[in-house]
Parts: sequence; C-alpha cells; structure tokens
Amino acid sequence: MEYSDRLKKLPVQFFASLVEKVNKAKAEGRDIINLGQGNPDQPTPAHIVRALQSAAEDPEMHQYSPFRGLQELKNAAAEFYQREYGVEIDPNTEVAILFGTKTGLVELPMCLLNEGELMLLPDPGYPDYLSGAVLANVQYELFPLKAENQFLPDYEAIPSGQVEAAKLMYLNYPNNPTGATADLAFFEETVAFAKEHNISILHDFAYGAIGFDGKKPTSFLQAEGAKDIGVEMYTLSKTYNMAGWRVGFAVGNAKIISALNLIQDHLYVSLFPAIQKAAVAALTEEQQCVEELVSRYENRRNALMDVCHSIGWNAEAPTGSFFAWLPVPNGFTSEEFADFLLEKADVAVAAGKGFGEYGEGYVRVGLLVDEERLVEAIERIGKTEVFK
Ligand SMILES: Cc1ncc(COP(=O)(O)O)c(C=O)c1O
Repeated sequence: MEYSDRLKKLPVQFFASLVEKVNKAKAEGRDIINLGQGNPDQPTPAHIVRALQSAAEDPEMHQYSPFRGLQELKNAAAEFYQREYGVEIDPNTEVAILFGTKTGLVELPMCLLNEGELMLLPDPGYPDYLSGAVLANVQYELFPLKAENQFLPDYEAIPSGQVEAAKLMYLNYPNNPTGATADLAFFEETVAFAKEHNISILHDFAYGAIGFDGKKPTSFLQAEGAKDIGVEMYTLSKTYNMAGWRVGFAVGNAKIISALNLIQDHLYVSLFPAIQKAAVAALTEEQQCVEELVSRYENRRNALMDVCHSIGWNAEAPTGSFFAWLPVPNGFTSEEFADFLLEKADVAVAAGKGFGEYGEGYVRVGLLVDEERLVEAIERIGKTEVFK
C-alpha cells in the first residue's frame, strides 16, 4: 500500500527530533529544563473545570452537538469580542466554532483556494500553516519577518508577481515565535493592502490575551474594514490554559465563516457539547484568571530578560505571547546552539530554523516554567564556555 502524494508531501515535523533528544536525556536521569515547547504549564481555572463537570452530568450533553456548535457558544464568542475589543460580531453569521484553531488554520486554504493557487505565509511562522497549504495542494510563498521591521511584514518588499497572484495571507500577532506585537496602524495598512490586491486575510490571534507593559494586544478586527476581507482565529488554549480541550473559534467575514462551517459540516459534528458549555463559562465569567496569568508571564519575562542581561546575552524583550526570541551567539547555527545547550547546560530550546529560514540566528525560549527554573536555566547557560 502506498500513501497518497498529498500525505507524502506533508512537511516533516522539525521539532520531533528535539522531543526525542529531550526524552533520551531525561531517561538518562538528567535534570532537563525544557524551554523548547509551547504547552501552557498552568492548570485550567477551577470554575471552567467545574462547568465541564456539571455539563458532563447532563445526559443531553451526551448527544451529538448541533452541526455548527451550540448557539450559546457563538453568542459567548460575540459577547467576548464586544467586551474585550469593542468589535461587533453577529453570532449567527460571523462565528465558526473550531476544534482548536489548528484545525481552522489547516482547513482554510481548502476552503478558499483551488489547487495550485497561491497563499502567502510568514517566515518565521507557526509550522502548521504549511500543513494547510500542502493538504490543499496550493502553492505558498513566504514573506520574511525581520528584526529591523519589528518582525512585521514589509508589504512593499513582497514581489509584485506574488502579491498579484496571492489569494490568501496569514498573519499572527502577538507572534509565535518572535514575541512581537502589531498595532492598529499596521492592521489598517494590512486591510488597505489586502483590499487593493484582493487578498483574504487570516489573522491568527492565538496569543490575543498576552500583551505586556499594560498593552493589550490589538485585534485585527479593530481595523476598519477588516471584516470585509478577513477573519481572526481565537483559541481558548492559551488564554484559559485549555490546550488539551481543543476549542477555539473564527470570527469575521461572513463568507469565509460560512466556508469554514461548510467544510466542517463534512468533517465533524462540532465539539463535545459539555466542552462547549465550559468554553461559554471561560469566555463570559470572571476574567481575573486571565489577568493573573498575563502578570505571571510578564514576571517570568522580566526575570528572564534580567538574567539574560546578567550573563551578557542581550536580547529584545518580547512585547506579547509567551515566547522570547533570543539571538544565537556567533559561531553556531540555531540547531547547533540548541544541541549545545542541551548537551552542556541540560536546557532545551527551540532552534529558530524550525520556524523557517528567517528564524535562523535565533532560538525560541518559552516562558512556561516557574521563574526559578527559568532563571536557573539561563544561569546554567551562563556557565558554558560561550558566555563565560
Ligand atoms: C501561533 C499559533 N497558532 C495556533 C496555535 C494552535 O492553537 P490551538 O490549536 O490549540 O487552538 C498555536 C499553538 O501553539 C500557535 O502557537
């Protein structure tokens, strides 16, 4: 039996080998501090767990969900956007419930592009964007995110042939992996660019809650006209530490939302209704848990930047997300440096190259362990010959 060409073309998981190396080192009894992953370390807030528990007791919740999800959850998503971003969303036509946003990101090229058509993706970027392009059998071109542009795309620099041919573009701020954020002016520029060239936009707002220094991240939908050309995807994975629950949603342009709902009618019967009920609780009940989480990440970020500075590892502090993007010292590739840190300091980081060519020269460090462990990790790195 042969697999399909489509499956064979799927990108190889760059970080699988990191996971293997970390597991091997741990099996040898070494005390590895793993800063390489993106899995939130805190538990889901108790009131959300309780909402799941009580919903799971209700036999009605054991039946199939309505095809496109519970109306209550769509209403909650609309209420959330109004409350958090002042953005008006019609819960009936402008919300699609997703099994985590990863599925939505992967489905969208299949919804909007014919085989061989072109989409534009950020480099560095979240690796699963490529999976969607390959599964839909479409072409993609990468546009660079450079430090000199605060890791925002330079639309002028994208070759005009690509701009004219592209039908879809993905953006993600606060950004994984760079920790950069975008402001309203950038999203307004994006809307103008997209309208001029007839490109649909997906803004991946996975880290929408996580902004530092008192600056709440900007929603793409806050830009005037954004809904005319795009959607934003929001996940509960990060804001409410619900990564394992698999729940998120897309909001925005009704035609794109309708396409996502249509493809999902054929793939799923929406999520376990009890999880949808718990998601309603997350989005509409107390939000103090989110404030506490963001200040926890901010404290970790500050501790990380201080200790990096103290060993002479100078880097820009991230303004959002739970990642820091740290420069690789001279003489190493990002992969070599990640291997070196694992070998010499028992610290795992993600090599920037795994996020694309323009990720070379950096490693990504997650703020996903306690402050003490984070500081210990960098102190260990400070004792290696590179920083001594
Ligand atoms: C940038 C980005 N987008 C999307 C996701 C997917 O999130 P989920 O599928 O849990 O909603 C992640 C998860 O790490 C991410 O970092």
